[in-house]
Amino acid sequence: MPIPTSITIRRPDDWHVHLRDGPMLNACAVHTARQFARAIIMPNLVPPVTKVVEAASYRERIRRAVPAELEFEPLMTCYLTDDADPAELLRGKQEGVWVAAKLYPAHATTNSAHGVTSMDRIARGLEAMEKAGMPLLVHGEVTDAEVDIFDREAVFLDKVLAPLLKRHPGLKIVLEHVTTKEGVAFVEASGPRVGGTITPHHLSYNRNALFKGGIRPHLYCLPIAKSEEHRRALRRAATSGAERFFLGTDTAPHTADTKECACGCAGIFNAPVAMQVYAQVFAEEDALDCLEAFASLNGPRFYGLAPNEERITMRAAPLQAPERIDVPGGNKSVVVFHPDTPVGWSF
Ligand code: DOR
Ligand code: ZN
Repeated sequence: MPIPTSITIRRPDDWHVHLRDGPMLNACAVHTARQFARAIIMPNLVPPVTKVVEAASYRERIRRAVPAELEFEPLMTCYLTDDADPAELLRGKQEGVWVAAKLYPAHATTNSAHGVTSMDRIARGLEAMEKAGMPLLVHGEVTDAEVDIFDREAVFLDKVLAPLLKRHPGLKIVLEHVTTKEGVAFVEASGPRVGGTITPHHLSYNRNALFKGGIRPHLYCLPIAKSEEHRRALRRAATSGAERFFLGTDTAPHTADTKECACGCAGIFNAPVAMQVYAQVFAEEDALDCLEAFASLNGPRFYGLAPNEERITMRAAPLQAPERIDVPGGNKSVVVFHPDTPVGWSF
């Protein structure tokens, strides 16, 4: 088959995004809105988004940060704490504010200090979500310092997620940013109520890249990139077209100064290059015919939403994207993710 020179698919959605707030929101939101019609907005602000009224006003700030002609819909999530109130979860869902709730194990990652310390603490909230058909989005890593950082996802699946699925047999769950072959196998074995998102960066490089020629803070995120066999499993899952895997960039901007320092933040800002990098991966795997399923169909189906009607076209042409974007008002910038290997897809 000749290599295609362009590809047209339904407009995609991003099922895992950090947009932040204030000047950072104003700098970053447009980049997600240029590529995606809808996005699941992560609630790990400081303080976290735990109340319906906070999510509704955050949604307004996001809408204001995006140029109107881009037609972008933020889908809001509730940050679960040990004190998560089942009534607040239900009310937000009924009022059309919450689309899902996010589980951060306490101290697992950026701004997760208010996260959940034990699944028992949120059992009533999860029961309410189960009844209401509200998905639970999971940062799937144990926080136990004795567990090796590269094993934290696999251990979480055994110790936390498998028992959780048993305890809440009707709860829909997304294992966010899958990074391991165990994560892929878990999603595949769990039936249609479990989905998994996969990021462009975890498809693009393995853990060696973090230390190539020196330490590379802009490739550091959580869950951390794993070894090549895991990356291969992710590429196979994403490009298979299987319904349970869908696009979630986990774009997570931090200003350069907070990454290029002695204790750099976790998070990769990939919004300006996300679809280009995914297209590159699918082309390399000879699976461009499955890009639309992953990017534009599987996510809406999981969330019970209609796919977008609008189409986008991408061309086989070298990626053009800035090295960094400025954040207004503080002389700060955010470095844009660029894989080490060439990206030959563009808008
Ligand atoms: O690398 C990450 N950055 N992983 C997360 O789970 C959170 C995110 C952030 O908010 O910066
Ligand atoms: Zn995230």
